[in-house]
Amino acid sequence: MNNPKLALQMENSGGLQFPDLQSRSAQLFARACAVLPGGNTRHSVYFPPYPIYAVRGQGCRVWDADGVERIDMMNNYSSLIHGHSHPAVVRAIAQQASRLTSIALPTEPEIELAELLVTRLEAVEQVRFCNSGTEAVLFAIKAARAYMGRPLIAKIEGAYHGSGETAAVSTSPTPVDWGDANCPASVQDKGSASGVAQDVIVIPMNDVENGRRILREHGPRLAGALIDPLVKNLGFKPVTSAFLSMVREELDRCGGLLIFDEVYSLRLGFHGAHHELGMRPDLLALGKIIGGGLPIGAIGGRKDILTELFDPQKGAKLNHAGTFNANPLTMAAGLAAMTHFDEAAFNRLSGLGQRLRDGLQEALKLSGRPGIVTGTTSLTGLFLVDRPIENWRDLVGMIAANPSVMKKSELLFHHLLNKGIIIGAQGFFVLSTAITEAEVDHAIDAVLSGLKSLPT
Ligand SMILES: Cc1ncc(COP(=O)(O)O)c(C=O)c1O
Repeated sequence: MNNPKLALQMENSGGLQFPDLQSRSAQLFARACAVLPGGNTRHSVYFPPYPIYAVRGQGCRVWDADGVERIDMMNNYSSLIHGHSHPAVVRAIAQQASRLTSIALPTEPEIELAELLVTRLEAVEQVRFCNSGTEAVLFAIKAARAYMGRPLIAKIEGAYHGSGETAAVSTSPTPVDWGDANCPASVQDKGSASGVAQDVIVIPMNDVENGRRILREHGPRLAGALIDPLVKNLGFKPVTSAFLSMVREELDRCGGLLIFDEVYSLRLGFHGAHHELGMRPDLLALGKIIGGGLPIGAIGGRKDILTELFDPQKGAKLNHAGTFNANPLTMAAGLAAMTHFDEAAFNRLSGLGQRLRDGLQEALKLSGRPGIVTGTTSLTGLFLVDRPIENWRDLVGMIAANPSVMKKSELLFHHLLNKGIIIGAQGFFVLSTAITEAEVDHAIDAVLSGLKSLPT
């Protein structure tokens, strides 16, 4: 531990070790199980034997129901760009809450947040708000289909885009149903309407040749391609520039639209992932950090498309309602958070992300354990596999061949919880501007001791 003050704080946990079935979190979970299926309402926050219940947060610190303090390195799967209770965000929410929370009239904060996004993100010429990234993707897809008058959407096998039926096709296919690697089957989510998969074509990750062939084959019926440039559930795997160029070329050839899902990957650049990658998507799905920690989604993109589809003065072609769309509370929180996330804050945070990645790399070396460090800017992945993950099938194959990877990841996750660090259970670190070098170094030390303690 490099920072004695930090060490002192982090050890102030009352000696409670996770898991402890006598803990208040364990008791709360038992209570939750009576009224929530499996005690849970959001799969990504469950981990066995019980999840830790949070009580409050301040900056990069959170306190759980047993009074244990930890550093939050997950930040609600990215949405908390400034960590918890940033004073400007709290002030904006409090001021707005005392005036209006939601109302069936538009408000000025909606225009202000839209202006910020249009100014900062060059591919966002106009924007429409909704309430989650899932909804943003859903409406971006609908917009592409409605504008093009074509049914098909292309997506990368294994890429997560929220829980909408179209977007969820082939998010986690299995060897039983995924078909030929060069021409993946479209596997629909359980519970989807029949026929959803027929309108989705699935392209293999970073496979330029097969991707081109598949897109070309379906070109005349293709409304657009949905691409997240950094695929989180492949461990923050970047889409290569050759693959992106191929997708753009094929879409230009057939007239389809490029839809960037920057719900997560907006963090890739101050001006968004598309700017960073030199791409100009036609439509974008946004969410997470633009809401200042409150629920949000947004569809952005070309003015001609958005106006033609959504402008009520021209008899909007696409119905887009939503009781809480652009509710002033979220708009105010988003505006405060995004205003404070200026270029200097972005660069500082990216530097801390790099410090973390370098430190994790070094920890792997010192421990002699297999593992890879992935990610960029404030997004980092640590996975205990022995070589880079190429695509979804590669990941599934790697885990099947070495099932102990999952057990070791779980042990490392528990170790980190007991060292006062919260990460995503699968190995994701998502930083906020509230973090400093001291917390990053503490996390690196904790990972090193965790790696050393793992069974061989
Ligand atoms: C790339 C991507 N798209 C869409 C979503 C869905 O966003 P939300 O959870 O706000 O519905 C997520 C959520 O993690 C995501 O990572």
